[in-house]
Amino acid sequence: MRLENKLAFITGGGRGIGRAIALAFAREGASVAVAARTREEIERVAEEIVGQFKVEAFAVECDVAYSESVKRAFERVNEKFGRRPDILVNNAGIVETAAFIKTDEAMWQRHLTVNLTGTYHCTRVALPAMIERGWGRIINIASIAGKTGAPYISAYAASKHGVLGLTRSLALELASKGITVNAICPGYVDTQMTSRGIENIVDKTGKSADEALKAIKESSPQNRLITPEEVAEVAVLLASQEGRGINGQAINVDGGTVLF
Ligand SMILES: NC(=O)c1ccc[n+]([C@@H]2O[C@H](COP(=O)([O-])OP(=O)(O)OC[C@H]3O[C@@H](n4cnc5c(N)ncnc54)[C@H](OP(=O)(O)O)[C@@H]3O)[C@@H](O)[C@H]2O)c1
Repeated sequence: MRLENKLAFITGGGRGIGRAIALAFAREGASVAVAARTREEIERVAEEIVGQFKVEAFAVECDVAYSESVKRAFERVNEKFGRRPDILVNNAGIVETAAFIKTDEAMWQRHLTVNLTGTYHCTRVALPAMIERGWGRIINIASIAGKTGAPYISAYAASKHGVLGLTRSLALELASKGITVNAICPGYVDTQMTSRGIENIVDKTGKSADEALKAIKESSPQNRLITPEEVAEVAVLLASQEGRGINGQAINVDGGTVLF
């Protein structure tokens, strides 16, 4: 087991990629704090973990948009486990699609606040204990939209480019302290986020759901969606001792859609 005796804090852990990472970490022996806003979902994942693996799991409500909510969530985790997380996965994220000309400042702010400032809030709270311990892992779930642009997702792409800037700078700043900071950049993953994207395409273009899914799959040279579990396996490597040499990277899990 590669993450024995570690404690991980995973934002957006209630479903999709975050849930898969929580389960994969637990399988590798980590105890897990599953953080998001929807209580039923995080509780379900925590129960799933405790039912399957011999580790502890704790569902903690947290809205990454608000620093006070993040601080409170970390305090509750400290009360529960008597220690601070070794591993932080900044996975919570949102996406809304629209032509830039039809977007407003509120939509722009929502993306930056959750996807980028949310990553900042959690990292800012998690980092001091990692520095003190001389060991830590920060894994940011960005996107290939953090490396390249695409129509109708300008705010999302800007926020994810920002996550990569933060990842790279922090990785260099912390390299001598036993802490690595990396990002994973998935292509389209089979989660609710992609299902909502398909519904949106259907609403806006009149395409059928099958046609929309086909087009999404065809954007990857592998002509398929990535599974949440594939992303989770990369997160396990980055979190592990074996992955200690990987630092400041933004690893695509996209079937080859983006080659840089
Ligand atoms: N699906 C894809 O194709 C894809 C591709 C590339 C990158 N990604 C990235 O991967 C990450 C996970 O995506 P997913 O596909 O698993 O999406 P998802 O199924 O929509 O799950 C998103 C998770 O983030 C949580 N979340 C959203 N806003 C939050 C907030 N303010 N505070 C705390 N938690 C919040 C959600 O829980 P609550 O709503 O209950 O808070 C949920 O648990 C995101 O950062 C996304 O941008 C996804």
